[in-house]
Amino acid sequence: MTTKIKPDWAGESLLSQFVNLLINTKPIYNLMKQQARRVMIKTAEKKGIPWRKSYNKLETSGVKQKLKENTNPKVVYPDYYKVPFHAYAEGNLCWQAAFEAPSATYSVALRVWPKENITWETAHRRLRSSFHEVLAKYLTQDVQDILDIGCSVGISTLTLHRYYQQKQNHPVHTVGLDLSPYMLSVAKELDTYNEISQWLHTQAENTELPDQSFDLVTLQFITHELPGFASKAIFQEALRLLRPGGSLAIVDNNPKSSVIQNLPPVLFTLMKSTEPWSDNYYMFDIEECLKSVGFQVLTTVASDPRHRTIVAKK
Ligand SMILES: C[S@@+](CC[C@H](N)C(=O)[O-])C[C@H]1O[C@@H](n2cnc3c(N)ncnc32)[C@H](O)[C@@H]1O
Repeated sequence: MTTKIKPDWAGESLLSQFVNLLINTKPIYNLMKQQARRVMIKTAEKKGIPWRKSYNKLETSGVKQKLKENTNPKVVYPDYYKVPFHAYAEGNLCWQAAFEAPSATYSVALRVWPKENITWETAHRRLRSSFHEVLAKYLTQDVQDILDIGCSVGISTLTLHRYYQQKQNHPVHTVGLDLSPYMLSVAKELDTYNEISQWLHTQAENTELPDQSFDLVTLQFITHELPGFASKAIFQEALRLLRPGGSLAIVDNNPKSSVIQNLPPVLFTLMKSTEPWSDNYYMFDIEECLKSVGFQVLTTVASDPRHRTIVAKK
């Protein structure tokens, strides 16, 4: 049996077109959106993720007053970013998305190992360490400067920073970059010990950071939120930012994962209804694109049952 390269529910197939029709029918979409939210929160809380408690804590933390200082007034939001994401009408540009992002992140981790009786803390540790293990295997150079693109509320940034800080016996400087000032405000709030050198509000395609200033650039769970042309522009920018021999590491949904390919109809319909660039992502050949902009692709590894890690070198 040959392995399918993408799920049948993505792209141009009849099944995919039918699901897209449902999603593009407003009343049905609104119903699916509400349903997706309800299912997500209920499942998370049943598994011990303190969804509403964590939301309330952030809401009353005073973080809302810091939006202006975390906003770069020069940023212009691209059209592909200003669409609804994850059942939020304003996508990543609202407090609700930012306050729910930590719990949503831990829920993603739990979904990777649904049959194992593990806590969300363990699931999250495993999710991150499966990525770090691939980095340990394929990155031979010393890592001093790290850029985490699409850092959201900074959980990927902090875990990656701590991993390298512990592994190497010299200081590591890490920058978290995102296009949402709401997410970045929460990231700053959660970076209690100021471990991260900078939280940067800018568009990943055009960061204005100096050439050759990083040893490692990561894209953790961001490419499925991007149309292919934006991913390509970000790869080009990453190439410019990396020192010679430096690495770009990408972790995201694995189109070849049998779990993803065999998602029950209710789940893939919900997923497609909350991820506007999902079809585009599953049809996009990341490795080919990396090569076309000048990277050497070192590996693609199924780093866990749902995700793949791609490492490319400058
Ligand atoms: C799913 S979240 C990433 C999660 C995080 N890296 C983690 O692993 O926990 C995707 C993030 O990418 C950001 N993003 C999307 N397009 C972007 C762009 N063009 N430039 C910078 N950030 C972008 C979004 O604002 C969002 O916070």
